Order: sequence, then C-alpha cells, then structure tokens
Amino acid sequence: MSNIGIVYATMTKHSAKLANAIGRALQLQAEDIKNGPQCKGLDLLFIVGGIYGGQSKPELLEYVKGLDSQAAKRVALVTSCTSNKQGQEGVRALLTEKGIQVVDEFICRGSFLFMGFGHPNRADVENAVRFACSLAGKAGIPA
Ligand SMILES: Cc1cc2nc3c(=O)[nH]c(=O)nc-3n(C[C@H](O)[C@H](O)[C@H](O)COP(=O)(O)O)c2cc1C
Repeated sequence: MSNIGIVYATMTKHSAKLANAIGRALQLQAEDIKNGPQCKGLDLLFIVGGIYGGQSKPELLEYVKGLDSQAAKRVALVTSCTSNKQGQEGVRALLTEKGIQVVDEFICRGSFLFMGFGHPNRADVENAVRFACSLAGKAGIPA
C-alpha cells in the first residue's frame, strides 16, 4: 500500500491534530479541505472530521460531494465527538453513493465546552495513529 491520502476538516483543531499525527506516522502531509486538496486514484484515503449538531461540517460534506468516484478505492474515517459514539454518517452515505468503499471508522472522544475536556488526548491520538497504521499496512507506531 503506497498511495495514501489524508484530508481533514476542523472547527476547533482536533481533527487537524489527529490528521497531522497520522500524517507524521505515515510520512504524509495531511491536507485541510479548505485548501481544496485533489484526490485521484488513491488506494486509501483517510477523512478526519468532528461532529457538530449530529452532523459533519457542511464544508466537508460539500468536499466529499465533489470527489470523483475514482478519487480513492477505499476510505477510512477518523472521527472525534464528545459523545464518543457518533460517526460521520453523512460522509459515509455520500461515499457509498459514489461506489467508494468505507472500510472502517475510528471514533474517539472530542471536547466541547465542559464536555470531554482534554480530548482528544494523547491516548486518543495514539489509538488513531495505530488504527491508521494498521490499515496502511504498517507495523506499530513511531516512538
Ligand atoms: C458547535 C459544536 C457542535 C458540536 N456538536 C456535537 C454533537 O452533536 N455531538 C458530539 O458528539 N460532539 C459534538 N461536538 C464536539 C466535536 O465533534 C468534537 O469536539 C470534535 O473533536 C471537534 O473536531 P474539530 O476540533 O476538528 O472541529 C460539537 C462541537 C462544536 C464546536
């Protein structure tokens, strides 16, 4: 597995933190969707985002709507939210409509106001990196 991309959308920087940690582990540059990263013919694309009022960021949904069906063979979702339960269902539905397979989703706790203070914390980030490395076919995480 060599052709991997990482994109994220963020409101309070948690997704940037998770995406950048995954990028460091895989030696790839994580890209903010606000810069309109191009995805084409990827083997695997990580989409990193939070949940706001039960939904993904509207800009992320628009970005995913605009993806070509050949953008990636497979997508893995990396999600943070205070409930530690809600997935990126809207993103998943849009990808499925395009025939892009969503292979797995990692969900960790985020924080908003007093809820989930400190998350995603170091352990959350390490778990996200472990998830990504295992999907990318890499053993372990860097020290
Ligand atoms: C305006 C706002 C609304 C949110 N709504 C939800 C929600 O409905 N459910 C939930 O589990 N988390 C919710 N959260 C928490 C975020 O999903 C969580 O903190 C996430 O890590 C944010 O990612 P980001 O920093 O990349 O934007 C909300 C956060 C904000 C700022």
